[in-house]
Amino acid sequence: MQKVVIIGATSAIAESTARLYAARGAQLFLVARNAVRLKDIADDLRVRGAPEVFQATLDVNDVQDHARLIEQIWTSLGHVDVLLVAHGTLPDQARCEASVEWALREFGTNGASTIALLTAVAPRFETQRKGVIAVISSVAGDRGRQSNYLYGSAKAAVTAFASGLRQRMAKVGVNVITIKPGFVDTPMTRDFKKGALWARPDDIALGIAHAADRGRSVVYLPWFWLPIMLIIRHVPEFIFKRLKL
Ligand SMILES: NC(=O)c1ccc[n+]([C@@H]2O[C@H](COP(=O)([O-])OP(=O)(O)OC[C@H]3O[C@@H](n4cnc5c(N)ncnc54)[C@H](OP(=O)(O)O)[C@@H]3O)[C@@H](O)[C@H]2O)c1
Repeated sequence: MQKVVIIGATSAIAESTARLYAARGAQLFLVARNAVRLKDIADDLRVRGAPEVFQATLDVNDVQDHARLIEQIWTSLGHVDVLLVAHGTLPDQARCEASVEWALREFGTNGASTIALLTAVAPRFETQRKGVIAVISSVAGDRGRQSNYLYGSAKAAVTAFASGLRQRMAKVGVNVITIKPGFVDTPMTRDFKKGALWARPDDIALGIAHAADRGRSVVYLPWFWLPIMLIIRHVPEFIFKRLKL
């Protein structure tokens, strides 16, 4: 039986992923800040096949609470086969430009909190010498754009951190996966006009579970974001400065 931990378990992408693991009969440990919604999701996952669903509440910005949570996870499960880090916000870029406090707060939620969590779980994975750590970054982290560079820079930090952690953990049989979704139709993007490039949370969930099963390192979801970002990353600065992205 797989033992799966999800941080940010009330996220639409996380919930879809949890459903896949529940259908496989995995034991789940869900972490989110909204206890009421978390309980509803846990009840649903039991109906969908999860034999046991542990729940814990955490605001990821309460970094001093991370150690307690991690202790609780390993005490409950014994070991962890898959850890998915899925929490995030889509910051208001204009507000971040106007307020240093807000910019750092959003950087904390989308970047520093994930780095803190991964730093704290890494020794546990080193000790158990197996498992998968999947971290949801974003294509936005591949290149800062004027419309959302606070979010992009936080995700870039997550991507670089995960790259280093992957190299370290490869030596002890632990796989670290960087998940880079493009546009996904979730509550985070509810105000956006949707188009052909948009994916559903279920599509991303399938990609995450597949990447974890296959021992992948970096995955763009859906796949077509790989060539798109290849192009965006290589646009010369003198052209990029003139674009409005
Ligand atoms: N949607 C996209 O287009 C897209 C694209 C690329 C990457 N991503 C990434 O995918 C991941 C999942 O996002 P989603 O699209 O599924 O969005 P979502 O449904 O809005 O989920 C975001 C989740 O993050 C949680 N969260 C936010 N701040 C938190 C905090 N301080 N402490 C604990 N939990 C917190 C939210 O909890 P509450 O429910 O309590 O607010 C919510 O469960 C995120 O990392 C996001 O950056 C999304």
